[in-house]
Amino acid sequence: MLTPVLPEAHTNDAVLHDHAELDIGLRARQACISPKFLYDTLGSRLFEAICELPEYYPTRTEAGIFDSFGGEIARTVGPGSTLIDLGAGNCAKAASLFPLLQPAQYVPVDISAEFLQDAVARLRQRFHHIEMNAVGMDFSSAGWSLPDTVRAERRLFFYPGSSIGNFTPHEAREFLQRVHAQCGPDGGILIGIDLAKEAAVLDAAYDDALGVTGAFNLNILRHVNRLLGSDFDVCQWAHRGFYNEREGRVEMHLEAKRAQRVTWPGGERSFQAGEWIHTENSYKYRQSDAVGLLEQAGFAATRVWTDPRNWFAVIHARAMFH
Ligand code: AVI
Repeated sequence: MLTPVLPEAHTNDAVLHDHAELDIGLRARQACISPKFLYDTLGSRLFEAICELPEYYPTRTEAGIFDSFGGEIARTVGPGSTLIDLGAGNCAKAASLFPLLQPAQYVPVDISAEFLQDAVARLRQRFHHIEMNAVGMDFSSAGWSLPDTVRAERRLFFYPGSSIGNFTPHEAREFLQRVHAQCGPDGGILIGIDLAKEAAVLDAAYDDALGVTGAFNLNILRHVNRLLGSDFDVCQWAHRGFYNEREGRVEMHLEAKRAQRVTWPGGERSFQAGEWIHTENSYKYRQSDAVGLLEQAGFAATRVWTDPRNWFAVIHARAMFH
């Protein structure tokens, strides 16, 4: 069963909220568009393609860690958990771990409820002994909470893929505090975090030779045109993706190829040639800082698993209550 957390009346609110958020971001002195708008249907497909690129190491490296240490991870976590998969998408990552983790209940959570429903229907046929309860919800916004249909016992939040890096460290701490508040005394988190590394590796991963990441970034303008009714001409913008060592993050921007004016209902903005719109940050943590971030949110790391190059970490942490 799919639990729609937002009642129908809120759908219009969400549209208005998106509209206001985009309007404010585009009028700001440093124009910005939230990275959540990267993921319309095409954007999600382009992200899947990014994960196949030789330059984009995080997905492959994390999968390698699960392959190498799956047994240990399963022993650390223990069977019978309530596995809450944040940003589940097609549920494939968590499902590949079912035989190892043996959860009692699986709770995929994603903003795209329809997408989840199909994925869960397929999974039920393969894993009929696992209770499944999909939740359609935007957990990146403040104040989210799980519905009562989610078991309170042994909650294990699963947050792979280094999506935590797309929050600022401050937002990441608040997000993890929210997760902690819903863990219960026997709860925890299994999280994938991308680690700081050589700039050349990061530059290539976010500005690949085939231009797939560029298409992913530029597609945000088409999505914004649909949501806001704006008239961005995608051909007039160029992708920029690079590691900002001082900030410890990869940044994605769109650069105006020439001076232009963009309009939308109730707003407009002129861009100079060379002016940027900031579309995404992807923070890269040192291992000790990643553990520190979890501690600040009330968790205690029990184990950290990494790959031989130390490029990525999978961390299990227990929720602590004093
Ligand atoms: C989803 N997220 C973890 C990706 C990342 O690496 O920050 C999004 C992405 N942006 C460009 N390439 C991939």
